[in-house]
Amino acid sequence: MNDLGLYIHIPFCKKKCNYCNFFSVNYNFFLCDLYIESIKYESIKFYGKKIKSIYVGGGSPSILSLNQIKKIFIILEKTFDLSAVREITFELNPESTTIDKLYLLKDFGVNRLSIGMQCTEDKFLFFLGREHSFKTFCKIYDMTRKIGFNNVNIDLIYGFNNQTINSWEKTIKTVLYFDAEHLSLYPLSIEKNTFFYRNGMVIDDFTQRHMYDIASEFLEKKYIHYEISNWAKKNMESFHNSNYWRNFEYIGIGAGASGYFKKFRYKNIENVEKYIKLIINNFDVRVENEYINDIIYETEKIILGLRLLNDGVSINSFRNLEHKKSVLMCLKKKMLKKEKNKVKLVKDYVFLFNQVASNFII
Ligand SMILES: C[S@@+](CC[C@H](N)C(=O)[O-])C[C@H]1O[C@@H](n2cnc3c(N)ncnc32)[C@H](O)[C@@H]1O
Ligand code: SF4
Repeated sequence: MNDLGLYIHIPFCKKKCNYCNFFSVNYNFFLCDLYIESIKYESIKFYGKKIKSIYVGGGSPSILSLNQIKKIFIILEKTFDLSAVREITFELNPESTTIDKLYLLKDFGVNRLSIGMQCTEDKFLFFLGREHSFKTFCKIYDMTRKIGFNNVNIDLIYGFNNQTINSWEKTIKTVLYFDAEHLSLYPLSIEKNTFFYRNGMVIDDFTQRHMYDIASEFLEKKYIHYEISNWAKKNMESFHNSNYWRNFEYIGIGAGASGYFKKFRYKNIENVEKYIKLIINNFDVRVENEYINDIIYETEKIILGLRLLNDGVSINSFRNLEHKKSVLMCLKKKMLKKEKNKVKLVKDYVFLFNQVASNFII
């Protein structure tokens, strides 16, 4: 049995950022209390399962009150077998994080934090619709270190149209100064139902590619580029997220959460009130529930696995005739390379991963 992960979705934010299409609504204390109660009922469906990693993401989990954070961890402790948990990640937004919340997280065994910095200049933070300033980020980051968190990730977004190459270089240098254990760098994508989309914002692929190359060059001195968008110091790769890319199963709990459990990939309803109502009345909250047969499993294993740049995919994983043909074609076109019995992504195609992945969809 592979390591089983647990993802808890907290779909509440102070305000929607201009680029974000993740499922979240404005935080409301009473609604959130009911939501946490519903999480309890959904969790009970997986009673006793032995969990290896937990990821509390959002939305903005740090917006929860102290008591709400407490309730969540008590539910998890009472419902799941956490005796073998190795990593617990909690996402933080700088503006809603406080010292008391950080102490509480530490007490409940959280050993990895992921902070949404996004960028280092206030004018860009404002442009992205963020609720924090660079100074607030610095204050929270310092607090995490003083309290003793020694596994911290920083999220960054790059490639918006008023960001110059020079300012991106400056951002990367500033980020290096923080010496975080892990960095996630995302090229801005314009998603439907966002402020940027409604305002016809366009992005320049060429500049984003250039920025990605610059970042890779600067970061390789200190970090291992282990996944397309992720860099980590030695042995500090995200265990939970790496298991997604290894195509291992995970339980997803909450409105809008996805999961992959007992050969079914599922997605819960993206509506907090409906989620609560359905759960309380013991109805199904899944709006998608797909059985992963052998062919789909193989496709997912290849596409997800290729994202892990140093691990790659074992040559034995390509069993289906179409996949065998595709891998030969990608090797011939130098999109992929073979190292021992593994197939890995070639450096020039890391940023163009979708082009490679599309060859394996059957
Ligand atoms: C689940 S989100 C939110 C985490 C946390 N609420 C925050 O905002 O800091 C995880 C990360 O996805 C990235 N992200 C979200 N929407 C994006 C977009 N349209 N383009 C690029 N990155 C995006 C951001 O870097 C964000 O920190
Ligand atoms: S980026 Fe984070 S804070 Fe902003 S809307 Fe999305 S989930 Fe909420």
